[in-house]
Amino acid sequence: MTKQNAPRGNHPVLLALLVGLLAGFGGLARASVATTKPPLRPITVNLQDKSALQNGALYTLHMCVACHSLQGVRYSSLPKMLGMNRVEFEKVIGTNGKHYHDTITSTMPPAIINAFVKILPPDLTDIARRRSPAWLYTYLTSFYVDPSRPSGVNNTVRYNVAMPDVFAPMQGLQKPVMVQGLRFGSPAQVAIGVKPLTQGSMTQAQFDRTARDIVYFLYAVAHPHQQERARLGPWIIGLFLVLSVLTFLIYKLYWRRVITGEERWWRVGK
Ligand code: HEC
Repeated sequence: MTKQNAPRGNHPVLLALLVGLLAGFGGLARASVATTKPPLRPITVNLQDKSALQNGALYTLHMCVACHSLQGVRYSSLPKMLGMNRVEFEKVIGTNGKHYHDTITSTMPPAIINAFVKILPPDLTDIARRRSPAWLYTYLTSFYVDPSRPSGVNNTVRYNVAMPDVFAPMQGLQKPVMVQGLRFGSPAQVAIGVKPLTQGSMTQAQFDRTARDIVYFLYAVAHPHQQERARLGPWIIGLFLVLSVLTFLIYKLYWRRVITGEERWWRVGK
């Protein structure tokens, strides 16, 4: 065995080690994420429901923007999506004193947010792209009282959430439905749902509708071209169908003029 061969001989060992390590990590990761998940509340987003979108915009741009930003959109891109014109938008929903062409940033200075909630609230356009509408809907309706938390509340889908329950005055307080389950692999009491504890200013149905409208709006700002795509889709498919017919006709035309082997024999003779 020459010296040159030695490193080559090492490769299978290294490879086996690497595979072993990866499998080990994979196993660990899989074992550690075993968590009892609460069922998500189903929701179907309807972007044609303009009054729902307007209501969602009203709540989002006045409640949520106190902490969160929506830097993926400008105020000026909202009226069209909401089925309003600029004047109506500025009168009914408004821009929180910002310029009409500004991106939507939080109205609270970061220093105050940091002192207040310790964790910087994430950008909502970003969150709305990452989370499904069903997750968002469940999140917004599932805050429950948990005295062990600094904010006094917790959330079924976002365990130990840092966001305070901004909906408490409207929705009332809620208590958790606990089951014995797994949290990150270890046995624990896990909240899989909520039950009303106190009455808020809205009925359950009214609050669910408000949360739904907020989810519609968040979905719309995170997918700004969705309505345009739905409108163009049938036309594009139609165009492809027409092109298919035309290309088929061209194919037929070409092959009518091509002389195949057998035809050549009797046409040319040899
Ligand atoms: C008092 C400040 C505050 C207000 C008002 C507020 N939030 Fe939050 N929100 C937070 C903080 C802080 C977090 C980060 C939570 C964490 O990481 O634990 C957060 C997180 C979130 C998340 C992300 C959860 C995740 O992990 O993906 C969503 C969605 C959300 N908020 C939606 C809203 C909506 C919608 C409103 C308006 C109805 C709103 N928030 C109002 C402070 C706030």
